[in-house]
Amino acid sequence: MSDFEDKARAALSNPQNVGEMPDADSVGTVGSPDCGDMVRMWLKFTDKDGKKVIDRASFQAFGCQTAIAVASMATQLLKGKTAEEAASLKPDELTGDLGPLPPMKIHCGQLVENALKNALDGSAPATPAPASGETLASSINQAKPKGSIRIVPLES
Ligand code: FES
Repeated sequence: MSDFEDKARAALSNPQNVGEMPDADSVGTVGSPDCGDMVRMWLKFTDKDGKKVIDRASFQAFGCQTAIAVASMATQLLKGKTAEEAASLKPDELTGDLGPLPPMKIHCGQLVENALKNALDGSAPATPAPASGETLASSINQAKPKGSIRIVPLES
């Protein structure tokens, strides 16, 4: 097993900052057109020494284990950062102790990065901002293409 897999497994065994944040100052939601996964990130700011910094960050993910592990790491790293500092974090920095992602997993980290950017300034491509009371699950259901299932009997 690779070093990355060991670290991802450890992060997944106790993911941090999972869940909605009802009193958040901003929220960003991004869906991946590649795999259909979604990440939503909430940010709460506070004043520290005259600067507006991130006090708390939380997330929900309907995504692969890598996206969850990266979101857990990223939300821990964001505490105490200004919006500008958070926005300038490189993808490899957001992954924290996980280190650089394997090539096949890079888009999973980008999902988290874009959810953060969307929460910070709305610059990342995102699904519409959640309406009050809307959950990530209901967002996903809305994102599904409309239409009915057509059942075609097999010829015997
Ligand atoms: Fe979709 Fe990782 S496979 S976020």
